[in-house]
Amino acid sequence: MSHPATPLVELVDVDFSHGPELPVLRSVDLRIGTGARIAVLGANGSGKSTLFRLLAAAWKPDRGELRLDGEPVRYNRAGRDRVRRRVQLVLQEPDDQIFATSVSADVAYGPVNMGLERDEVTRRVDAAMTAAEVADLADRVPHQLSYGQRKRVALAGALAMDPAVLLLDEPTAGLDPAGGRQLLRTLEALNAKGTAVVLSTHDVDLAYAFADTAVVLTDGRLVGGDVERILTDRDLMERARLGLPWAPLVSRALGRRVSAPQELP
Ligand SMILES: Nc1ncnc2c1ncn2[C@@H]1O[C@H](COP(=O)(O)OP(=O)(O)OP(=O)(O)O)[C@@H](O)[C@H]1O
Ligand SMILES: [Mg+2]
Repeated sequence: MSHPATPLVELVDVDFSHGPELPVLRSVDLRIGTGARIAVLGANGSGKSTLFRLLAAAWKPDRGELRLDGEPVRYNRAGRDRVRRRVQLVLQEPDDQIFATSVSADVAYGPVNMGLERDEVTRRVDAAMTAAEVADLADRVPHQLSYGQRKRVALAGALAMDPAVLLLDEPTAGLDPAGGRQLLRTLEALNAKGTAVVLSTHDVDLAYAFADTAVVLTDGRLVGGDVERILTDRDLMERARLGLPWAPLVSRALGRRVSAPQELP
């Protein structure tokens, strides 16, 4: 790597299994630095959600370690709190994340739990709800909201923690196309301010448009690198049951670079 700075979050030679019969990840290395834009791709069951839970210290590796700011993470209360203040995971299923009886209370849960002053909680909750476009839903009961609305509420809850690293497990799945594009703009704005953003997706065009680094999971192994190189590796993409993104294919056909249509309405 050209950038010698200590990564914010790092998995070092990690194995993880659900018991001896169910290995999921093997010898996985991943570094997440300030301002990273990483897309995680892989077939159903390849271990994307598992990878995110390991990065958020929700699950403990069988072997290897998770480091935060260069320091190994301990899996006790204090260790997990240390991670939670820096790393936020938005789960694939919003219902695994949302439990308060109003949207604003749900978004406030993390900041309140962190012991922040009331004014600071209010400021963070308002900013997070605005960024995730759920301000108009503040007083609604989360479980009566649509799936896409609940996904945004879960995102707002993570944003309210002001994370250095935001992990999003399939954030655009189930969103309408305009909602998906809006979400990417929100993530780009956060990233421009230095937040590292890691998202998983089955959408190779979205990954190509958003990320500078792609990470592909196949057969328990992680292969990562420059997004253009990884996503145009036909063998790798086939093994991961993924197609190729259209932009580099079109670029090659035309003999010049074409960017994905992020800005279309
Ligand atoms: N709690 C669990 N207990 C046992 N096995 C699990 C558990 N959670 C996940 N697995 C298994 O671990 C493997 C990886 O699952 P994971 O959810 O990480 O995949 P994924 O890449 O996120 O898939 P998807 O695209 O469907 O979301 C799968 O084989 C899955 O069946
Ligand atoms: Mg998953």
